[in-house]
Amino acid sequence: MSTAIEFRNICKSYGEKVVLDDFNLCIEKGEFVTIIGSSGCGKTTALKLVNGLLTPDAGEILIGGEDISGMDQVQLRRNIGYAIQGSVLFPHMTVEQNIAYVPNLLNRHDKKRTREAVDKWMRIVGLDEELKRRYPDELSGGQQQRVGIARALAASPELLLMDEPFGAVDEITRAQLQTELRRIWEQTGITVLFVTHDISEALKLGSHVLVMDAGRIEQYATPAELLRSPATDFVHRLVERERRACRLPDGQLADCEWSGAGAARQ
Ligand SMILES: Nc1ncnc2c1ncn2[C@@H]1O[C@H](COP(=O)(O)OP(=O)(O)OP(=O)(O)O)[C@@H](O)[C@H]1O
Ligand SMILES: [Mg+2]
Repeated sequence: MSTAIEFRNICKSYGEKVVLDDFNLCIEKGEFVTIIGSSGCGKTTALKLVNGLLTPDAGEILIGGEDISGMDQVQLRRNIGYAIQGSVLFPHMTVEQNIAYVPNLLNRHDKKRTREAVDKWMRIVGLDEELKRRYPDELSGGQQQRVGIARALAASPELLLMDEPFGAVDEITRAQLQTELRRIWEQTGITVLFVTHDISEALKLGSHVLVMDAGRIEQYATPAELLRSPATDFVHRLVERERRACRLPDGQLADCEWSGAGAARQ
């Protein structure tokens, strides 16, 4: 196993406010890391440090062993899919043009391939073909979100950063998108960092779960480990309800659906 991302002694403040203080974490290639923690604890900040939208005050971010501060930032971001809550689509481009944006840059001379990629990703995230020619402000919030996910995936990134990407969709769509995302992850070998506020989503999707509080790592472990041995009171409180849901009559923890998740691709 090799390391996909390393946070090495990262410090990040906004003015007086210290958000990350000596933050250290190694993420193996091909992990699906779900990130959960209290609001304002630094989850979005951590993601933005990875794709260079923010720079650390001290420490290094390494991707594939290489310090990103020395990399070409455009090149870096082209290799990283970024899907966030709310619309970050290009407002003056249609759905099709939004999703085709990076594939167009990559296959400049192969328009057919780009068209096929757009069709494929629209199908996968469940967008009707008739939406292709619409502009973002002619879509519902959930549709915009799906376009954002399709656009991030259409770039065939090695690394996918998702910041509460399923926030604005209904429960059924959300379950479908979770299943699709897991399938894409299993098939592609991509490394995913996925921020969520929902502990059951974190446990269901992640091969590893990162629990944060106030800029500190409370625990970084597989869903099964998290349920079996929560490292701190904070983690204990977080997983308590899920633990109860999983407990067998004899008091043992059942082998829940998610405890096999991390093994799916090994
Ligand atoms: N540009 C900024 N300027 C000043 N403070 C900021 C800025 N961005 C974030 N912060 C503060 O830094 C802290 C961490 O923010 P961050 O967005 O990383 O939290 P988060 O864990 O993603 O929270 P949430 O779950 O609410 O999205 C918060 O207290 C936030 O108010
Ligand atoms: Mg956030």
